[in-house]
Amino acid sequence: MMKSLTSAVKLAPSILAGDHGNLASEARRVEEWGADWIHIDIMDGLFAPNLTFGPRAVKAIRKVVEIPLDCHLMISDPETFLEKFLDAGGDYITVHAETLNEEKLGILSDTVRKFGRRLGVAFKPSTPLSVVDLLHSSVSLVTIMTVNPGFSGQKFMPEVVPKIKEASSLFKNSRVEIEVDGGVDSGNAKLLEENGATVLVAGNSVFGQKDPKIALEELKRIVDNGARN
Ligand code: DX5
Ligand code: ZN
Repeated sequence: MMKSLTSAVKLAPSILAGDHGNLASEARRVEEWGADWIHIDIMDGLFAPNLTFGPRAVKAIRKVVEIPLDCHLMISDPETFLEKFLDAGGDYITVHAETLNEEKLGILSDTVRKFGRRLGVAFKPSTPLSVVDLLHSSVSLVTIMTVNPGFSGQKFMPEVVPKIKEASSLFKNSRVEIEVDGGVDSGNAKLLEENGATVLVAGNSVFGQKDPKIALEELKRIVDNGARN
């Protein structure tokens, strides 16, 4: 039977867990296997204890795939870099709640709108949703982190699951995407879907597996068919 290429819940493989010497082919192959988005973790060594990709890496990936690029900015000064990632071709640009105030959020969302792209706001595991007035903002994506920013392959924090549900109820009947990021795998994907996730980021559970294609297909099957292992 032909498999549908889009899941009700979108899967966003995180290129951070891929081979950094072959970013273009890593992006291309997950697109070919049915990934819905590509998640790109941008870290500045200040907000998160790691250094990763800059706008040129985003631009290089943009050239080789058509699916949306989901740029997760774990940087302490998103205002300075936002336009560079928009110019590079990011579709969703997600900034961290911990770096924002109301005025900054307004400026960032105006810029993203000017480019015709979408703004996301991400929350560290310990940050409550209430630090941002989400309902009066124009965010298109809320990212609930289920590990602390920094690295792929960390252990999923189940205590954050109620926050996923809270975000999902806040945006019931809206088109705002609820993304879960960190430690997502075939053992928790269904639970995350049941709690309102609409996008699942998967780093280690795709790129870290012996056969990443089968791993991605298995995750898609779980969110498509409700199977749980
Ligand atoms: C962590 C990043 C995550 C990470 C996910 O700072 O934001 O996107 O790459 O990787 P896994 O799925 O391996 O936890
Ligand atoms: Zn991320």
